[in-house]
Amino acid sequence: MPLQTTTPEIRPDNYKFLQEHVYNQSGIVLEGDKHYLFESRLAPIVRQLGLETINDLCALMAKTRGPDLGRQVVEAMTTNETYFFRDPAHYDAIRHVLLPRLRGERSSNKKLSFWSAASSTGQEAYSLAMGLLEDGFKDWNVQVLGTDFSSQVVERARLGVYRQIEVNRGLPAALMLKYFQRKGMEWQLTEDVRRMVRFDTIDLRKSMRTLGPFDLVFCRNVMIYFDAATKKSIMKEIHGTLFRGGWLMLGGAETAFGAEEWFEKTTVGTATVYVAK
Ligand SMILES: C[S@@+](CC[C@H](N)C(=O)[O-])C[C@H]1O[C@@H](n2cnc3c(N)ncnc32)[C@H](O)[C@@H]1O
Repeated sequence: MPLQTTTPEIRPDNYKFLQEHVYNQSGIVLEGDKHYLFESRLAPIVRQLGLETINDLCALMAKTRGPDLGRQVVEAMTTNETYFFRDPAHYDAIRHVLLPRLRGERSSNKKLSFWSAASSTGQEAYSLAMGLLEDGFKDWNVQVLGTDFSSQVVERARLGVYRQIEVNRGLPAALMLKYFQRKGMEWQLTEDVRRMVRFDTIDLRKSMRTLGPFDLVFCRNVMIYFDAATKKSIMKEIHGTLFRGGWLMLGGAETAFGAEEWFEKTTVGTATVYVAK
């Protein structure tokens, strides 16, 4: 809930301080008038600390200078919107083109590796895992890595427990019946899906050379928050984690960000795919 309208506005110097803090810590650019966003996202922290205003919060951040409060503020400013099988054209392309190819190429070691970068609460990584089980890769050594900047969403993803409203979004009923068990008022993914997926906290702006090699990287609906230089360096790092010929999929509103030297853009069905050169 936003702070009451009687609450004093965020002072301009504090507004700038918050914008810079979020940018420095996460790469997220919050340009233009984002007063409402700061107010709605930071109000719970202000209340939890027994403070009155966001200006008080900024004063405390400046005084304590500890990493914890600063991190909590940045995590609160991340947008974690996600759902199962988001952008179905991507899953169709994987199912009808990538997986048949990999089934042939990897028949000797039966090993596949996928990465959901910016995985939020895990629906994207678990959608991949369910798709692989559905397509007969149960006996293969399949690893799906899900990573996100926010440790809060990573913790939730690890549990693999979702509210009714979350399983109602994007998940076909047949898959819900097959891969979820009721847990009180919520739904938990079955052990065979959960054991295929591992989650970790990773800032996409850091070097990723220790990750991979992957057959497929999802990096969807996160690049929109970064500036051009950050996007380009992330594309280069992701390229370094992919097998040659491996696929990168971006969000619907995102483009290759000047990364043509590392990727060839192609269309599979109605999905845009960036193939690692
Ligand atoms: C809108 S969600 C996208 C979730 C999922 N990929 C999808 O498309 O449904 C964006 C995610 O990016 C994460 N994020 C923001 N900045 C990041 C960074 N520097 N490194 C890694 N993840 C980041 C946020 O925490 C958030 O969970």
